[in-house]
Amino acid sequence: MPPQNIATLSLGEGKKTIELPVLSGNEGPDVVDIRSLYAQSGLFTYDPGFVSTASCKSAITFIDGDKGILLYRGYPIEQLATRCDFMEVSYLLLNGELPTPDQKAQFVSSIRSHTMLHEQLIKFLSGFRRDAHPMAVMVGVVGALSAFYHDAMDVSDAQHREQSIFRLIAKLPTITAIAYKYNIGQPFIYPRNDLDFTENFLHMMFATPAEKYTPNPVIVKALDRILILHADHEQNASTSTVRLAGSSGANPFACISAGITCLWGPAHGGANEACLNMLEQIGDVSRINEYIARAKDKNDPFRLMGFGHRVYKNFDPRATLMRETCHEVLDELGLHNDRLFKLALELERIALEDDYFIEKKLYPNVDFYSGIVQRALGIPTSMFTAIFATARTVGWVAQWNEMISDPEQKIGRPRQLYVGAPRRDVPK
Ligand code: ACO
Repeated sequence: MPPQNIATLSLGEGKKTIELPVLSGNEGPDVVDIRSLYAQSGLFTYDPGFVSTASCKSAITFIDGDKGILLYRGYPIEQLATRCDFMEVSYLLLNGELPTPDQKAQFVSSIRSHTMLHEQLIKFLSGFRRDAHPMAVMVGVVGALSAFYHDAMDVSDAQHREQSIFRLIAKLPTITAIAYKYNIGQPFIYPRNDLDFTENFLHMMFATPAEKYTPNPVIVKALDRILILHADHEQNASTSTVRLAGSSGANPFACISAGITCLWGPAHGGANEACLNMLEQIGDVSRINEYIARAKDKNDPFRLMGFGHRVYKNFDPRATLMRETCHEVLDELGLHNDRLFKLALELERIALEDDYFIEKKLYPNVDFYSGIVQRALGIPTSMFTAIFATARTVGWVAQWNEMISDPEQKIGRPRQLYVGAPRRDVPK
């Protein structure tokens, strides 16, 4: 990527001027390459929350938040969500191209051969309290995978990385399902490799030894779409966490566990759960205005969960697709008159017409609708973020693999603006 241009930084009157290369990607704004800034000037940059800083080069996902564009490997999310399934999208994110039918068959077969968990790992579950949050279980069990797969732990070996990637993608639904079964006290349901990825996921969540689960195609399609829409989202907080953890050479299971930890927060993947909890808290359509007023009140920390996005300031293309799925599922299951769903749709209507939300460009995000869809599918609220983690694992491993393969990769080590006490002596 040769510099297209030079940015000149003046350090003030009588001081020196510094020239920094400007790099261009294939889409999106150019970036000022500040790698030589400290050496040239003795200055660092200050950018809490990375609002103006590109932390890496990536060829996986592109977002234009103002225009509401999301591309996976160049393909618009709207086309992928309507023309592909989650396995094809996973292959695309990992390999850069959509699979041919043969490549897809081989990929699906590789994933299938890793769906089971080591029995010892299943015993690990019994150490958790039954009422543990599923994300707590996920963080622990995914991290614990590191203790089971010593045969493929050399991150500098591309084949080892591929093996770990297959394991992670294949085992995440199994781990998510057993976290759920453990929580509700039902026996674990083993994977069925005659089903496709999403059908098998639903089977492991909802079958019991006493009763077979026959997935409804509308529900399978809805969950598959949730997985596709959540599969990757460029350098978001959890993906950056995975990259930062992986930059030290940590093993992929530990890195993905770190990503799950970050995703858990209510400002990120925890928003779909927080949104449903908020709807329960509002309780009735008659109280919506009270909560809208609270969301606008600067002295009240309450925020309308499922609204707003750091990057999308006009609309979130995933939210448009998820909204469509939401109505399909509510129609199929006859749930349009359910108390909470009516409340959600009314909240959406009122917030979209409210000046505060319009001015601040706060629109329902994908998690607003995915929470509603998941509830309609019978998935308990506490599982929502775990489902998100299962989907995002594909993006995390693709980004982790890209980072490790990048010859420019360095251990991540941000600088700081120190505002503590200057050097001082301990009293004698
Ligand atoms: N409800 C009410 N006010 C809001 C909301 C909200 N959901 N979101 C932002 N605002 C207000 C802020 O108070 C702030 O107001 P101010 O300018 O008067 O100070 C303004 O809008 C900008 O908010 P920031 O927090 O600066 O925006 P940022 O881009 O940093 O935050 C975020 C984005 C974290 C998503 C925020 O909108 C939020 O907390 N939303 C609710 C949580 C949520 O739904 N998260 C899911 C994100 S999607 C995902 O992870 C897949």
